[in-house]
Amino acid sequence: MKTGKLLIFGAAALLTACSAAYEGNDAFQVTPLKDILAPIRVGAAIDNWTLQNEQNMELFSRHFNSATCENSMKPIETERNEGEFTFDTPDKVTDFVLGNKDAVMRGHCLIWHSQCPSWLTEDSTLVFQRMKEHIFAVMNHYKGKVYCWDVVNEAIDDGPGFLRNSQWTRCAGQHFIDSAFVYAHQADPDALLFYNDYGLNNPQKREKCYQLVKGMLERGIPVHGIGMQGHYNVTMDYSTVDESLTRFEELGVLIQFTELDIAGGGPDRRSMRRQMGQDRPNGTQGQQQDQMAAFGGYSGNGGLQMPELTDEQKMHQDSLVTEAYRKFFTVVKKHRKSIHTITFWGLSDNYSWLNSRSRQNAPFLFDGEYKAKNAYFAVRELWNNRK
Ligand code: G3I
Repeated sequence: MKTGKLLIFGAAALLTACSAAYEGNDAFQVTPLKDILAPIRVGAAIDNWTLQNEQNMELFSRHFNSATCENSMKPIETERNEGEFTFDTPDKVTDFVLGNKDAVMRGHCLIWHSQCPSWLTEDSTLVFQRMKEHIFAVMNHYKGKVYCWDVVNEAIDDGPGFLRNSQWTRCAGQHFIDSAFVYAHQADPDALLFYNDYGLNNPQKREKCYQLVKGMLERGIPVHGIGMQGHYNVTMDYSTVDESLTRFEELGVLIQFTELDIAGGGPDRRSMRRQMGQDRPNGTQGQQQDQMAAFGGYSGNGGLQMPELTDEQKMHQDSLVTEAYRKFFTVVKKHRKSIHTITFWGLSDNYSWLNSRSRQNAPFLFDGEYKAKNAYFAVRELWNNRK
């Protein structure tokens, strides 16, 4: 190679290295996640808390092109009392999201056993009319704005049963799911309708979900997709996710990861107590308070507020979370053609349902200081490596 060309080559290599170094890990500088993973859409669970902070909104706009309201679109929030609808928060969130030209809005959720007002299922002679009216009211309000819905959430039993023993099965019977999807399709024929659940990588629950959706398709029920929530952790076997994707691909429906976060890797209350020789606080209430204070006091909901992780604990947790994301996205890459959207159940580590108790988790690709974590770079490297 002529000297001149060698110099140009060397300069280019140096520039690349510098730009990479210059890029650093500022979440507002690194390559947008939605560009890395395209055409798979990348979503985040956001809500009113997001709109209170410019950095949260900027982080969403830069890296995500799909959103789900973490809580404000759920039945208890939209129709706490029969016939009284509250849409102002989800409206604000939806308007913000759709203000991003490339973003779409998921609806979560219409029918669920949790965060569901009791009046919906207090009278078996009225339950289907009430279900229909709730679904019609909410979907009509968001018609043209929400392109897909988690119509029924978490209806499959975690134990030996097929469906969860909930107020819905007790009041409306085993076929409430069919009815919910039929009503949803009548309310908005253009909306994509998902069955959404957690733990669908568990072989037994996987098979129940497969049979549930297969039966719905055979009965002509309008179900378009499966939402695998994806509340995963640093110790699980990600080959189970691979097996579930393979199984669900047989159904020919859309597949989305709807609530991805990766828990664990840090100290939890039990191990912390063992470590401090405090299996259970004992003594008088005052003494208990003193003992608990050693953990850093109480969290807002009365749970145990864990102390700040040490730097060593944070580094250990970061390496475990990074490795788990590498395993997860290796599986996703294998199934990339059948995965429609991956929604993280949050934006960054400074806000996660996982930490509302006393567990210390760092479940996302961006940390609490709006920096891209090692997990972000691991995913980007893995994804950009075309092998
Ligand atoms: O709105 C009330 C507020 O008025 C009150 O002062 C406060 C007191 O604690 O509670 C607030 O409600 C909380 C609600 O989040 C809104 O912040 C509830 O206590 C709290 O339990 C609820 O937690 C949500 C949880 O669903 C409820 O099951 C989490 O934020 C949310 O991330 C989580 O999301 C679920 C998905 O919808 C379905 N899949 C599982 C996932 C994790 O549980």
